[in-house]
Amino acid sequence: MQDFSGKVAVVTGGASGVGKCLCADLARAGAHVVIADIEPARIEKTRAEIAALGDGEVLGIVCDVTKEASVRALAEQVFARFSTVHILFNNAGVGLGEAQRKIWTLPLSDWRWGIDVNVLGVVHGIAAFVPRMLEAGEEGVVVNTSSTNGGLRSLPNTPIYAATKAAVTSISEVLHQQLLREGSLLRAAVLFPGPHTVNTGIMASGEVRPADYVENAAQTKVAYRTMEDLVRTTGLKLRLTEPEEVAAFALEGVRARRFWLLPASAENDALIAARTQQILARQDPPSAW
Ligand SMILES: NC(=O)c1ccc[n+]([C@@H]2O[C@H](COP(=O)([O-])OP(=O)(O)OC[C@H]3O[C@@H](n4cnc5c(N)ncnc54)[C@H](O)[C@@H]3O)[C@@H](O)[C@H]2O)c1
Repeated sequence: MQDFSGKVAVVTGGASGVGKCLCADLARAGAHVVIADIEPARIEKTRAEIAALGDGEVLGIVCDVTKEASVRALAEQVFARFSTVHILFNNAGVGLGEAQRKIWTLPLSDWRWGIDVNVLGVVHGIAAFVPRMLEAGEEGVVVNTSSTNGGLRSLPNTPIYAATKAAVTSISEVLHQQLLREGSLLRAAVLFPGPHTVNTGIMASGEVRPADYVENAAQTKVAYRTMEDLVRTTGLKLRLTEPEEVAAFALEGVRARRFWLLPASAENDALIAARTQQILARQDPPSAW
């Protein structure tokens, strides 16, 4: 898909971070953009900013991707308005406050929230949109957001996040293969935001954690609003990528019809290669990849 002008794009988690930048670039390129997010105030603010960027229509729709009915209602509204969808970014995702905690101590409510947003959110998007996109018979793409953490190799200090992103990579590969077998004009792709930690508000995900996943106040506590805050406050040596860069890279990959939307990084490639070689050599994992 070379030209996004007049195309219909839906971005879950579109009200901030990478999703917001995707919405902005799509709007600038003349697409009709649907910002789907759980946070109404954030949606409205973002919608006003994005609407000023292009000639396409910009809708903001409140949607909780953990709920199948909410994602189906999103699809209903979008198809009722535009009759079709060309681009779906299953981008909504949350970061868990799990760093440095042992996997056997993590509350089940953390696992449920992580899995429901990061994994079932993608599944719900596929179930609600893909049949209708196939039926429309137009050229299109479904882009699922994974992460190199889990999606390609796992950091030992984020067990839940890594597990959810491993699932997203797997789901995306299967979706790609099954769409190829359909011989349809609809394709799949998987995005690995980076190459470094992306400077978004994902550390503040606790703010949008629904009450049914909250067991204690600590689970919604936000220590750092942005990755920049984290770096400044802790002195952590973390290299940052800006979300604008991720959005531009993702849309370039969509234009080039690539499946692996994985930015070049010698550092990541070495880690992925080391893991693969260790598996093939039947060597036990080290304490960190
Ligand atoms: N920031 C990074 O370093 C990084 C790295 C790799 C992958 N990712 C992935 O990129 C994607 C975007 O994250 P980001 O960094 O832009 O974070 P972000 O927190 O800025 O944006 C995520 C958005 O998802 C929304 N959201 C959360 N729960 C939701 C729900 N139940 N239903 C609908 N929307 C919901 C939030 O309101 C927010 O607007 C995520 O899938 C994340 O896992 C991020």
